[in-house]
Amino acid sequence: MNNTHFESSIGSYQLKRLPELANQPLRAWDAADEYLLQHLLDEQLLDGKKRILLINDDFGTLATCLHEHTLLHWSDSLLSQLATQQNLANNTLKPDINYIPSTEAPEGKIDLVLIKTPKTLALLEEQLIIMKPLLSKQTIIIGAGMVKYIHTSTLDLFEKVIGTTKTSLAQKKARLIFAEQDQSHTVKSKYPITFSAPEYDLTLSNHANVFAKQHLDIGARFMLEQFSKLPSGKRIVDLGCGNGVLGIVAQRAFPDSEITFLDESYMAIASAEANFHTHHPDKSANFLVSDVFSACNEKVDLILCNPPFHQQHAMGDHLAWLMFKQSYQHLPQGGELWVVANRHLAYHVKLKQLFGNCRTIGSNKKFVVLACKKPAKF
Ligand SMILES: C[S@@+](CC[C@H](N)C(=O)[O-])C[C@H]1O[C@@H](n2cnc3c(N)ncnc32)[C@H](O)[C@@H]1O
Repeated sequence: MNNTHFESSIGSYQLKRLPELANQPLRAWDAADEYLLQHLLDEQLLDGKKRILLINDDFGTLATCLHEHTLLHWSDSLLSQLATQQNLANNTLKPDINYIPSTEAPEGKIDLVLIKTPKTLALLEEQLIIMKPLLSKQTIIIGAGMVKYIHTSTLDLFEKVIGTTKTSLAQKKARLIFAEQDQSHTVKSKYPITFSAPEYDLTLSNHANVFAKQHLDIGARFMLEQFSKLPSGKRIVDLGCGNGVLGIVAQRAFPDSEITFLDESYMAIASAEANFHTHHPDKSANFLVSDVFSACNEKVDLILCNPPFHQQHAMGDHLAWLMFKQSYQHLPQGGELWVVANRHLAYHVKLKQLFGNCRTIGSNKKFVVLACKKPAKF
């Protein structure tokens, strides 16, 4: 099976996922993309040049197929923007496209909204609430997703925020959602939401798509329990920082260190920045939307990482592995990577291969904190 050749009702394109992996088993599109494109053609919704808002078009499949229109690509993910740019370039397409981070609202008249249902309902809710005032009664709103990810709660959300909502029949295990804009009501966002962890003297405020929105993640908590054993470092990175909890507490332990927060989620970086300033009002730090280390060229002394175990709907350790490999490149000799992970993932095997060493700093029934030191060159 060719995993990169997409034969759609609109055209044939080469499409890849990011990050690119050797023997990538997954495709950049799904049956929901196919169903949605077929529906747009069948219903003649693409006649004339349209201004289309694409939401959560993770690898740019819709952007590529709809390149003749004016496109607004709205997403929380830098990786999604990069994948879309790459797929457009690989197909030698240069559409009129505007990349809008989730932390900003799209602007101007919109004819058509195409929304792929994201992994978290909270992100969907926030996106629907932000886009609603931009739409007119004439705007056509179509959601698309795999049946297993469209729940009653998903449809209830469309109904609550947008208006009357119906679904299509399922086709190849995908479904479309049709929502009609009801302009008589608006729904207020509850994000960012705030919670406290008094035992660590923390109050964290999180945007809708941030990991562990309503509580301190138990993995992060276990990492914090080991912080008294951290080696000092002048330059510290919180890699995949989410709400920034690890970097914020590291700054307390090492007040003279410079902390850099990296995450590919716009909402994560916005939350980390706000939270850092709440806890360290007199300090500055670096906040970079970054695919692993793509936005940070410097060597750093200490990297703290609670790695991701999924990319949108796809589970796997490929992002964690990329983080470990790039961490190795960004550490000087003697610099350390600290990782918290579920024990069953057995990351110590991979880390030992990469660094030649791996210490267990702490472990409990569920988690392990591992530390690796970049060795001197022989
Ligand atoms: C398990 S969460 C940890 C969040 C936070 N450090 C904590 O401990 O609560 C993993 C984080 O990695 C981020 N992430 C996923 N892929 C990434 C990538 N390619 N580059 C940078 N960050 C990424 C996710 O957005 C998420 O915030």
